[in-house]
Amino acid sequence: DWTMDAYREQAIEAIRAQVGDAKVICALSGGVDSSVTAALLHEAIGDQLTCVFVDHGLLRLNEGADVVEMFRDHMNLHVIHAEEQELFLGELEGVSDPETKRKIIGKLFIDVFQKYADQIEGAAFLAQGTLYPDVIESVSFSGGPSVTIKSHHNVGGLPEKMGLKLVEPLRELFKDEVRALGAELGLPPHFIARHPFPGPGLAIRCPGEITRAKLDILRQADAVYIDQIRKHGLYDEIWQAFVAILPVRTVGVMGDGRTYDYACALRAVTSVDGMTADYYPFSHDFLGETATRIINEVPGINRVTYDITSKPPGTIEWE
Ligand code: XMP
Repeated sequence: DWTMDAYREQAIEAIRAQVGDAKVICALSGGVDSSVTAALLHEAIGDQLTCVFVDHGLLRLNEGADVVEMFRDHMNLHVIHAEEQELFLGELEGVSDPETKRKIIGKLFIDVFQKYADQIEGAAFLAQGTLYPDVIESVSFSGGPSVTIKSHHNVGGLPEKMGLKLVEPLRELFKDEVRALGAELGLPPHFIARHPFPGPGLAIRCPGEITRAKLDILRQADAVYIDQIRKHGLYDEIWQAFVAILPVRTVGVMGDGRTYDYACALRAVTSVDGMTADYYPFSHDFLGETATRIINEVPGINRVTYDITSKPPGTIEWE
């Protein structure tokens, strides 16, 4: 008789047995996997856990403050808010090649995480939200020929470099089980049901050069779009939805004036695991209403398009 409650108790005992009274650090992203990992570790070992939340300036509207507030103020975790926006955005200045962007962000992420982790005296373990599918995937692909479509952003290789042992309490779970465990641990339902968000954040939704001005426009547009999706009760039907700001400005009219502003693309897909995806069939009414709202509410955008590419041949993200 397998229940999530029993799993939780068993996982807590296993963490205590593995860690003893050593200190553990965890890279908290605000995603479901790292959030559930942190909450579970906190329940098992309390103040022996310190989380590092790296704010690279590529987060969505209010995201950094919201995540830190929830974990620090409502769940009483020890969270370091690494505010490194200047560093990341500075290094990304003038860079438009997608793989170069990813490499810069991935490298800085590791540097920054290590810098903060080094300040936590006596840390012996690194907690990671590795899931069962991640375990299988890395086994079945090993040794075979591999084609890198996009280099993924994670802290792989870091534990060895820092002399840390790994704690991976979600290794036996699938995504839906992780969500159930999160609910069991008291994470709010809207948080557990959040769409995936990539490590490189808004950088890969801003093709071409990343500027603060573009990121601000993108954040506003994305917030309006997600609000529309929630208001129409579609959020849970969609696997992932976001706005990409396009590296092109186009001419429009507004009132009696000419505008020359950015175009954006809305993306929404259904998927099971992110490996393949279909574009979501919004009604034309929904799309029209959303376009009107974005153009009225977001200065800097005067044209809205809908991306109807499935994966393959497209990818979900734009870079
Ligand atoms: P693509 O764009 O490759 O995305 O179709 C598939 C899924 O993976 C997410 N994604 C990432 N997640 N680090 C992550 O943690 C990354 O570097 C990364 N790149 C893409 C993407 O959001 C989608 O859910």
